[in-house]
Amino acid sequence: DKGGHKHFMAKEIAEQPHVIAEAIRHYLPVGEDAVHLPDGGIDFSEVERLTLVACGTAYYACLTAKYWFEKIARIPVEVDVASEFRYREPPIPGKTVALFVSQSGETADTLAALRYCAGKADKILSVVNVAESSIARESDLALPIHAGVEIGVASTKAFTCQLSVLLMLALKAAADRGVITPEDLDANIAALRSLPNVLAAALEQNDTIRQAAQKLSESRDVLFLGRGLMFPLALEGALKLKEISYIHAEAYASGELKHGPIALIDKHMPVVVMAPRDALFDKSVSNMQEVMARKGKVILVSNADGIAEASDGVASCIQMPDIHDNLSPILYAIPAQLLAYHTAVAKGTDVDQPRNLAKSVTVE
Ligand code: M6R
Repeated sequence: DKGGHKHFMAKEIAEQPHVIAEAIRHYLPVGEDAVHLPDGGIDFSEVERLTLVACGTAYYACLTAKYWFEKIARIPVEVDVASEFRYREPPIPGKTVALFVSQSGETADTLAALRYCAGKADKILSVVNVAESSIARESDLALPIHAGVEIGVASTKAFTCQLSVLLMLALKAAADRGVITPEDLDANIAALRSLPNVLAAALEQNDTIRQAAQKLSESRDVLFLGRGLMFPLALEGALKLKEISYIHAEAYASGELKHGPIALIDKHMPVVVMAPRDALFDKSVSNMQEVMARKGKVILVSNADGIAEASDGVASCIQMPDIHDNLSPILYAIPAQLLAYHTAVAKGTDVDQPRNLAKSVTVE
């Protein structure tokens, strides 16, 4: 049942305020001022290293979580795609926690990577949507994301629920280690509680995003740029676009532009810049100007302040509500998903069942 939507993907994008509210309610019960984990949880105070492993979109959730765990909880983090990790057989030093992220809980490479870590890592955690999955069963602690069944092959609500759970886990780790002030923790928790409403406001930009997607649908290649927490999100935006619209899309950390990809820029190249007005904004703007100086068509995704400051010469702007910096990747996932969705619809591709792809990759 698509609930009145044309595609499951559209339904699942629209469900995000609701499912994220669910995820948050499970980890931050009403009236509580700390993050609660199921089944005895985990104490991060002695953890020296975190290894995050996943595939595809779940891997981008891990890349985002690296920024959170390092910045908020001060834990060194390694992130790897499961297919590389499992055959590289990396050393796992003591006091390492290994964390596996998977919507299905059945991805073959992720499961193999988990089995490699069993008996080596201090603790095996997983962040899963399917609670009865192999990955959940074989972990010491499985953290459900409460996204509900996801049918579209392109992952949407599972991604933002994974991010929400990973951010709450990073906050819990920071509290365990005494590296976050009570004020900071409260501000993050308050922002998480407001997230469902903020996401609902972002979904109201649907028409603007559809118009921007018209331009993308006529392009052969699209570049996504982002810095900091927006870099993994840029990668996710590019993956979503290529999966369902079959347009070649790539993402770079904005600072890498001059190290190669700027050679691609001409008037035929749309460049999606994900840049809330945060501490790195000025640097993103100067990258954006480098793109425009070479006639690249910029689609700027930012908040009101960012757009007021930097929209000169930009082909289109998509305005997001204001949010705590730490939560920006969860919010900016909405325009990334909708850009891909409307581009695919404009091209007439099979949005829910893109060619050559399976929902769950259970064989290598
Ligand atoms: O079920 P999993 O989260 O382990 O799946 C991982 C990837 O196969 C998955 O995220 C894939 O990249 C999606 N098609 C992305 O939209």
